[in-house]
Order: sequence, then C-alpha cells, then structure tokens
Amino acid sequence: MNPVMEQMRSHRSIRKFTDDEVAEDHIEAAVEAGQMASTSGGIQSYCLIRIRDTQRLERLVELTGNQTKVARCGAFFVICGDTRRHRLLARRAGKSHETMLEAFLLSVVDTSLFAQNLVLAFESMGYGICYIGGLRNNLPAVQELLELPEGTYPLYGLCVGRPADDPMLRPRLPLGSVLFEERYPDDAAMLSDLDEFDETMLEYFRQRGAGDRIWSGEMVEKFSEPRRVDAGPFFRSQGANLD
Ligand SMILES: Cc1cc2nc3c(=O)[nH]c(=O)nc-3n(C[C@H](O)[C@H](O)[C@H](O)COP(=O)(O)O)c2cc1C
Repeated sequence: MNPVMEQMRSHRSIRKFTDDEVAEDHIEAAVEAGQMASTSGGIQSYCLIRIRDTQRLERLVELTGNQTKVARCGAFFVICGDTRRHRLLARRAGKSHETMLEAFLLSVVDTSLFAQNLVLAFESMGYGICYIGGLRNNLPAVQELLELPEGTYPLYGLCVGRPADDPMLRPRLPLGSVLFEERYPDDAAMLSDLDEFDETMLEYFRQRGAGDRIWSGEMVEKFSEPRRVDAGPFFRSQGANLD
C-alpha cells in the first residue's frame, strides 16, 4: 500500500463541517490537479462554479432537498458538463456544433473524471467532501438561479470543508462482484455475491445505528420508479442532443 492508495481507501463522505474556510490557494491547487485527469481527446468539457452568495446558497439548500450542508461547508461548487466552449468556437468558425448523445456522454464522463481527481486533491489536503446529486432535483430552477447558458449541464454539487465528523467507512461490493476474468459471471454467481454483501451492509447499518436495512431491497426500490423525469427535457433545453 502506498500513501495515495491509503488515502483513496480512507474516503468517506463528510456531511458536517467546521466553520473554517477553504483557502483560496488550496482551491486553485486542487482544481489544477483535477484538471490533469484524463480527458477524452483533450476536450475538457467541464467547469465548476463556486457559490458564495448567502441567498443563493440558501436557495440551493432548498433545491437540493434541504441539504443544509450546502450552505454550511467551507466551499460549495456546482459542477457542470460544459460544451459551451466548443459551441462558441464552432460559432466563431461559422460551423455547426452537431452534438449527438456521444457529445453529452463525453461531457458527463470528462466531468466525473475531473471531479473525482479534484476530490482526491482536496482529501489529500485534509478536507472532507460530499457530492450533492440533489442538485438534479429541480434542474430548471438551478439553471435559472445560476443563469447557466446553453451548452452547460449542471450534474452535481460538491461540498468541501474541514471535517467536523468522523463517519465509518461505507463498505463496497466484494472484489468478485466488480472484477471479472474474461467474461461476465453468470447470474446465480452474481446474486449469491450480492446476498453476501447484504450481510456486510446489514452489519454496517446496525453499527451506524441505522437499524436493519437491506441493501439489495433498497436498490430494487431505488430503481423501481422513474426518478427526476425532467432531466431529459432539461438537458435537451440546454442544447444537448440525447439521440
Ligand atoms: C454523484 C453523487 C451524488 C451524491 N449525492 C449526494 C447527496 O445529494 N447528498 C448526500 O448526502 N450524499 C450524496 N452522495 C454521497 C453518497 O451517498 C456516498 O458517496 C455513498 O453513500 C458512499 O459513501 P461514502 O462516500 O461515505 O463512501 C453522492 C455521491 C455521488 C457520487
């Protein structure tokens, strides 16, 4: 084990922060480190917007489902897929920007590689983080609040700050459920591994005082209904072609 892997293996989301600010030079250093993530063909289709304004932060608390940590962390960022630069370049060159689904996927993939490297950089400086997918609860309201132009896709928020909490590590699937040799395993083997994981998670939830929660049942529930159904129309209205 080396220090980088030790740090990666000690990640847990932090949801309570001290009042300490995140130093500006730390933000810049972390973003520059994040930018060195691999990026499909060098397109770098992402950006992040730091939100400091108290009223805007309070509105984002509401929009993310009353996640108060959004306004009570050292720094809050909205992280976006960003195809606008390419659109501007195309417009200036008198060309069209013919984006099909692939371009949207590229921006989501690029953004997430950037974001996770950014997170690792912050964590390496002793900060804690929490991604905020609740940002997608009401995408049109987020777009309006931040006046996000065509070609930008808000994907998630990111809380950063000094941890005021020391939560347990959340278990992950056993290696055999994610690392396969040559071919995808048969369904019975997969389901048996997942049953084992239920046991691991049951123990974890009990230790956390969260009662008897069954991970597999929660996954079934989570995906049993349409969620955030306005995402497709919203991203289309921002200029994405999802075909
Ligand atoms: C894209 C994304 C969105 C997330 N959204 C939220 C969120 O809105 N609120 C929250 O408290 N945690 C959020 N999380 C944190 C996850 O719940 C957390 O990463 C997961 O339960 C694993 O726990 P760990 O990060 O502590 O290991 C999000 C994580 C990701 C990757």
